Amino acid sequence: MPTAIWTDEIETGFEKIDAQHRTLFSLMAQIDTEMVDNAPPNDLAGRLRQLLEFTDLHFATEERLMRKLGYDGLDVHVKSHEDLCERITVATTRELDGHDLHGELMAILSAWLVEHIHTQDLPMARWMRSLSRHDEPPSTLEPEIRK
Ligand SMILES: [Fe+2]
Ligand SMILES: [Fe+2]
Repeated sequence: MPTAIWTDEIETGFEKIDAQHRTLFSLMAQIDTEMVDNAPPNDLAGRLRQLLEFTDLHFATEERLMRKLGYDGLDVHVKSHEDLCERITVATTRELDGHDLHGELMAILSAWLVEHIHTQDLPMARWMRSLSRHDEPPSTLEPEIRK
């Protein structure tokens, strides 16, 4: 199954969040390529662990911002992160145990990257922008969302 590709319509407008999303897309594409090319198991395992670690970091970034601003969709968004994290972890662990889950793993990752961004991240970003009068990230967020 083809991996999801980045399009402008899933940009949140928040530099750090978009940069992290792009990194996740890139990691997913690398994993897809390595699976197709039958990369050495150690290489694939390392890349999958990298994906899990970066996913944790990304979720923590978004959740810290939502808490700081008092976002009322926090609980639903965090639950979505937890569910996805568990699904990715289970599929990744099975893959590392020697099951060939290429299609399943890519389907989960694609669903997460596209559907989660559409249903959770974009509404969160719209809400955060609504805190500003000028349709830009609130200045109080800038130290956290900019590198
Ligand atoms: Fe999210
Ligand atoms: Fe996200």
